[in-house]
Amino acid sequence: MKRLREGGLLVCVMTRVITMYAAPPQDIVATQDIEKRVDALLKQMTVEEKLGQMSQSTAMASPISDEIKQQIRAGRWGSFLNAGSPADRREAQRIAMKESRLGIPLIFGRDVIHGYQTIFPIPLGQSASWDRDLISQAAREAALEATADGIHWAFAPMIDIARDPRWGRVAESLGEDPYLTSELGSAMIHGFQGSALNEATSLAACAKHFAGYGAAEGGRDYNSAWIPEILLRDVYLRPFQAAREAGVATFMTAFNTVNGVPATADPFLLREILRHEWKFDGVVVSDYEALTNLIAHGYATDARDAARRSLLAGVDMEMVSTAYFDHMKELLAANRVQMAEIDESVRNILRLKFRLGLFDGRRPSANQSNGNALTTAEKLATESVVLLKNKNSVLPLNPTIGRIAVIGPLADSPADQVGTWAMDADASRARTPLAALREMLGAGRVAYTPALRSSRDNSTAGFAEALRIASEADAVLLFLGEDAVLSGEARSRAFLNLPGAQEELVDKIVETGKPVIGIILAGRPLTFHKVAEKLDAVMYAWHPGAMGGPAIARLVFGQTIPSGKLTMSFPRTVGQVPIYYAHLSTGRPPVQEELGVPMGTPENPKDYTSRYIDVDFTPEYPFGYGLSYTTFRYSATRASKSQMTSSGAVTIEADIKNDGPRDADEIVQLYVNGPIGGSAARPVRELKGFERVHLKAGETKTVRFSVRRSDLAYYHGRMIFSAESGSYQAWVAPDAARGIPITLVVE
Ligand code: GLC
Repeated sequence: MKRLREGGLLVCVMTRVITMYAAPPQDIVATQDIEKRVDALLKQMTVEEKLGQMSQSTAMASPISDEIKQQIRAGRWGSFLNAGSPADRREAQRIAMKESRLGIPLIFGRDVIHGYQTIFPIPLGQSASWDRDLISQAAREAALEATADGIHWAFAPMIDIARDPRWGRVAESLGEDPYLTSELGSAMIHGFQGSALNEATSLAACAKHFAGYGAAEGGRDYNSAWIPEILLRDVYLRPFQAAREAGVATFMTAFNTVNGVPATADPFLLREILRHEWKFDGVVVSDYEALTNLIAHGYATDARDAARRSLLAGVDMEMVSTAYFDHMKELLAANRVQMAEIDESVRNILRLKFRLGLFDGRRPSANQSNGNALTTAEKLATESVVLLKNKNSVLPLNPTIGRIAVIGPLADSPADQVGTWAMDADASRARTPLAALREMLGAGRVAYTPALRSSRDNSTAGFAEALRIASEADAVLLFLGEDAVLSGEARSRAFLNLPGAQEELVDKIVETGKPVIGIILAGRPLTFHKVAEKLDAVMYAWHPGAMGGPAIARLVFGQTIPSGKLTMSFPRTVGQVPIYYAHLSTGRPPVQEELGVPMGTPENPKDYTSRYIDVDFTPEYPFGYGLSYTTFRYSATRASKSQMTSSGAVTIEADIKNDGPRDADEIVQLYVNGPIGGSAARPVRELKGFERVHLKAGETKTVRFSVRRSDLAYYHGRMIFSAESGSYQAWVAPDAARGIPITLVVE
């Protein structure tokens, strides 16, 4: 979407800017030149050298062993991941280019997921900012830092749709919505890859995990995903198609099966969709040993079979496991694979290395990190925090307040606040909430005790001290949530409550009668209904990254204003999961008066509708929800016309008024549902546009979205992608639960 400004209006033109590799004419020459160079090199390569290019290792210790040096000379590896120091990488590259037979450069990959040395909020937190430009800037800063250390390839963005908070990897995701994930994932790709891949500060990005990983049954990591093709295309693949259109250089295959077929050997995903439909000509890398995991899947009989099936499916490079190098020659000899199939993968790998400029003297950039990284990290952390409750406007606290009590281990834990996938975090850059609050108010006005040794601690031994400082304070900042190790890969949780004795701690602290502000640091939506009822305010800060401390401190005391909005629906209880806003209505939707529990009695339920008899069917907090220190009033949604022709566009708009006391940002959302009368039931609403708008106190702005018929398209029937004729509804709304729709007839 392009945003055009017309005076006080914000006009959002919903056109998908296709930035394929077929770039402007001057680039076609470069592309043809690369293809010639690839062909010329390929002709010279032995089978071993080809298989070496298809092999990625993490086994480069520091300093590099003689064995690895010899292997590099022999062309045994085409890439290393998460390996060695910057000096080791320089030495390894020198050996590859100067001492191997063909001088083919190595490509160094790394999990640069949400920052390199400067860590930004976890991606789920970043997504709550809904700020394309800032998220792109953060990725750019990460690229500046990582390329200075000789990294060429970031295994990001993770764009798996996440609708199950039991899954630990929701922390790395951009939330539950395909459109938002598409927009923000593309912004990250542009940030990582910069204006041209062959620039010294550009990182090849990696769309992962292809595909359907977030649909793992039971929210259990690596588990099976059963996704009907219409849902696969309409929801799970959309962000990956957007990544392709954004020019992402690589894809990574997922660990899971999709409808029984492991994604790392699925020709439907890797050939039919990625190569034939989307015309992708970059590199597909497997996930870590995912190729030999085919054996455990019960899909491949042995490593040799796994190598054959992944190659034929379209996996170019094998991460860590060595089935390609170990077995491909036998498979060739047995005529079970063809050299042409190997050449196709090697061609993709060489093409990427040429595009990155690795053959043409690309050197680690002089660290051009312009010192903005920490500023960007604080701004993004600030915009990521979601204010969930603010009873009687207890926040912002008055800076003249006497003493505050800061309680909880997460208030002063740099390792936890940076969250999962922060392997290169420079801890000295992290500023904790406690440090920031003491700097802001003076240490004498800030009493602190962790009360618990970690978020998982069940001991109440530290409660007495917590009670003491709370009793002596004018307000309490109670830091709750999850240690970083409770989220991320292989960290699925069957319960979503606050771990350890945190709930008991809340009960004790609220007994003091002091104003208690809960600040939750976590890598996923948690369930804390009773806790939230007892607290005066609740801020959700995710794992906010290096500058989470100053961001939280300034928000609490009103120097900045919360603007974040949720990108995953928060369940009331884990029993509601999966829960997401873009669900179907069902034939017996619960009616609004059925909110609250109980409706009727178990012996005589009030109505036979799709709900629970023991909990309200709605989420605790809906997708798109977030409070501010001011209030925004939305006018009725308006449309430039009530009918949309096949090619025309309709402008959907509303006036947004800041009728509170503070200048602030508001994330305005456009939802559409429909059609009623099409060939399938459609979600009750789907996000189709959003904009952050800044409104001064008292100011009104009209936010307009220009909607084309193609923006409403979805898959139906025999995989037809179109917007069927019929009656649609549209809302300009503050979140997925509110707004009064208008009707739009699509002819
Ligand atoms: C891990 C993750 C993947 C990561 C890769 C390299 O298992 O699934 O996201 O990029 O291995 O560390």
